[in-house]
Amino acid sequence: MVMVTRREFVKRLAGAALFGALLGPKAAEGAVQEEVAKKVVKAPPLPWPYVELDPEETRKLGHLGYYAFECSGGAFWAIAVQLREKVGYPWTLIPIPSKEEVLDAVNKGHHLTGFFQYGFGGVVGWGTICGAPQGGIMIMSMVVKNKKDWEELGRLLLRFYETTPFPSKKINEYAVKGELYPKKLKYSGWLPQSVSHSVLCHVSVSKWCMASGFASGSKERSERCGRLTGDVAAEAVTLLNAYFKGGLEKAKSLAKLKFSATTAACRECHYKGKDFEMGQFTRGFMQCETCHKDLRAHAHEFLTKGASGAELMTVGLGAGGLGAFAGFLAGLASNGPSEGEGSEEEEKEER
Ligand code: HEC
Ligand code: HEC
Repeated sequence: MVMVTRREFVKRLAGAALFGALLGPKAAEGAVQEEVAKKVVKAPPLPWPYVELDPEETRKLGHLGYYAFECSGGAFWAIAVQLREKVGYPWTLIPIPSKEEVLDAVNKGHHLTGFFQYGFGGVVGWGTICGAPQGGIMIMSMVVKNKKDWEELGRLLLRFYETTPFPSKKINEYAVKGELYPKKLKYSGWLPQSVSHSVLCHVSVSKWCMASGFASGSKERSERCGRLTGDVAAEAVTLLNAYFKGGLEKAKSLAKLKFSATTAACRECHYKGKDFEMGQFTRGFMQCETCHKDLRAHAHEFLTKGASGAELMTVGLGAGGLGAFAGFLAGLASNGPSEGEGSEEEEKEER
């Protein structure tokens, strides 16, 4: 922040008034506002206030936001613009246009450069994590006081992303009935759905393109990502509403999102930890089986060494995880990795 002494401030105001006499009241007003902004506006520390928001309005705004700022900027904007409307300061400090300004630009076919837009296409098009959950989690980290809590809310959102067929029926319906905000949609029909089993833009887009037959550079794919942005923003708000009503437990009970059985089993040994020998040379919660399909060498290691079970137990594989891991190996032998719900193993260690 630029520091201005009181004396200097008054001097500058006087200068602005003189300027005003020469240039007219409008310019003077601008100059004064600028000075006032420099002087008094200070962003308060996080968390910033949150009020309950309507998930359906958020879904539509997320879609509109995508048209202007793509996925990460769109999801962030959809929530932040409502908080600014309902709460005012400090959300007024975030440099984002209003809904009317965005709608006007979108209907004229203009793109806008937006706050938090960098996450588009999995961060500047690189195809890493999808921008939509990034926008949602950014807001979570701004409004939830306890870091452990917003971490958990963020994980619920990412797991939702991995497991949900996008675009949702709800937003497909809005599109078909003409209930979304842009005057002209990139594509106004019902779009095919797919589950990505991954939070990566690369995987999410590629699987959807293969499922739908639309190219990655098509209007339909872009529309799909717009609808997905609405869906993810709506879920972020749903989780936050639940959290502020009934805490983390309420948000969790609502989301009911567990790791896949395989991921829970892998994480018996592979998580961020200090025991290298046990498998703690990696980290993360992504759904393992989406990428690690061929673990025959690994399986051999454990099935032969651990046939008695003793070896496996010594490296810390609990009974639940052992069963799930055995299931995964059996799946490998037949037709690929197993799907399904895991146990509540995820809470147990420092990530
Ligand atoms: C019982 C503990 C344990 C479980 C369960 C386990 N791993 Fe491992 N994993 C290890 C250890 C220890 C190593 C290192 C082995 C070595 O280098 O010989 C390893 C190595 C690996 C490697 C590198 C070597 C390779 O075979 O490609 C990958 C990838 C891997 N694990 C993925 C997984 C996945 C995915 C799962 C769940 C399906 C899983 N692991 C379950 C302990 C485990
Ligand atoms: C998006 C794809 C993806 C997902 C999901 C994923 N991994 Fe990996 N993982 C990789 C890639 C790629 C490597 C590097 C492999 C290489 O270079 O040989 C890797 C490396 C590893 C290694 C070290 C292997 C080695 O080279 O010795 C382990 C262990 C591992 N992953 C375990 C897991 C576990 C456990 C999960 C689930 C919690 C998981 N991975 C999820 C892609 C993935």
